[in-house]
Amino acid sequence: MIKAVRGTRDLLPPDTALWNFVEAAVRDVFRAYNFHEIRTPIFEETQLFARSVGEETDIVAKEMYTWEDRGRGAGSLSSSGWPPRSKSVSGADSRSGSFAESDRGQSLTLRPENTAGIVRAYIEHKMWDRGLNKFYAIGPMFRRERPQKGRYRQFYQIDAEVIGPPSAGSESPARDAEVLELVATLLDRLGIRDWTLQLNSVGCSNDRAAYNDALRKALEPVATKMCTDCQRRAVTNPLRVFDCKVPEDQPIIEKLPRISQYLDESCRKHFEQVKDILKSIGVEFHENDRLVRGLDYYTRTAFEFTHGALGAQNAILGGGRYDGLSESLGGPSAPGIGFAIGEDRLVLALKESAEAVQHKPDVYIAPLGPGTDRAAARLARELRHHDLVVELGDETFRLKKSFEAATRAGARLILIVGENEVQADTFALKNLATGEQVSVPHAELVLRIQSAG
Ligand code: HAM
Repeated sequence: MIKAVRGTRDLLPPDTALWNFVEAAVRDVFRAYNFHEIRTPIFEETQLFARSVGEETDIVAKEMYTWEDRGRGAGSLSSSGWPPRSKSVSGADSRSGSFAESDRGQSLTLRPENTAGIVRAYIEHKMWDRGLNKFYAIGPMFRRERPQKGRYRQFYQIDAEVIGPPSAGSESPARDAEVLELVATLLDRLGIRDWTLQLNSVGCSNDRAAYNDALRKALEPVATKMCTDCQRRAVTNPLRVFDCKVPEDQPIIEKLPRISQYLDESCRKHFEQVKDILKSIGVEFHENDRLVRGLDYYTRTAFEFTHGALGAQNAILGGGRYDGLSESLGGPSAPGIGFAIGEDRLVLALKESAEAVQHKPDVYIAPLGPGTDRAAARLARELRHHDLVVELGDETFRLKKSFEAATRAGARLILIVGENEVQADTFALKNLATGEQVSVPHAELVLRIQSAG
């Protein structure tokens, strides 16, 4: 039997109702904050992620689904056979610049996150002309992580980004506070109470250079006692040492200097202003100067919202500022801030309330006897035009089987369409919960079914 690939899963009813409920609520909140939807491709050039998320991050170094796309000159499917020989592409290849589309292969990657793609689109479509852009996107992301509860290889993110030229106010701490307040509102609206906002400032490029020096110095005497990843990170990108999950390394990491000691005056002030606004609007937060996030593009404000009920994978969302990202991708200065909710985790946190958002049929129509399918179909069409949820049965079913099907579908009412009923144009309507049965003339059906709720 062919099964779904490890780390991927089918989302089935009734769970999908919960996903739709979440997405509808999210779209409502985004509308109130004047965010607009953007949809970027699910795969991009590999170098986009290498240059933005960072070569030394776990995401780029270990978790991306990357392949070399055959160029036009690589021959047709039939001549080359199937499967095509795919070559795994290393980060080094991905840095070698863009390939000419014509005849050479191109290194492509399934998006592990959406910020890079959105900033690429911002640059490609010169969206600075529009002033401050407020985008949101909902869709699948792909990371080759070890699957466990709340961690999948195909997972869904609800992403939001505020980006624009500095003249549009994109750098303002007011934007950071607004984005954080939006998240708090969204979680509250969904009925998620048990969240904590972990907040930090990771500084800008000036602070980062001084901080990286300090980290390198502190790591020099101890790096050999750490895991091989950390030994490499200590030289290439010491900030990434904080991503280490190896338990034996934690006491060393605990003693490393903190970024909060290295913030320059403007970053410190920016962070203070963000916190001031949050306090004045009543959004609670917890300062955590160990939070550096697992992606390289962050500057200044960085944050995560954690949720108590989620266990090990407790980050329901993460985000922050990325003021230099556009420049590093060849664009103009375009400070930005955003976040991505792990929708799978959000839905997990909401699981208890799943029952409340299920929509069940208002009525099950049970044709009874040969030739009644047509009358039943006519009635179903009519009732559905009145926005009623209708489940339609089958004239070959005996009455007992129709009752069983109606009960399994969760219908409130069953409408019996036998030959006599069709002739009299009056139908038997039975409430499945109370057992009460009434005879209803055709013209009154809609009203009777609507009022039976
Ligand atoms: P991230 O922290 O890598 O940030 O991912 C954001 C959220 O996606 C996580 O907090 C988690 O809820 C969810 N997530 C990540 N990996 C998985 C997985 N394997 N399975 C299930 N859920 C997962 C970003 O992706 C940034 N692009 C966020 C951002 C937007 N920063 C600025 N703008």
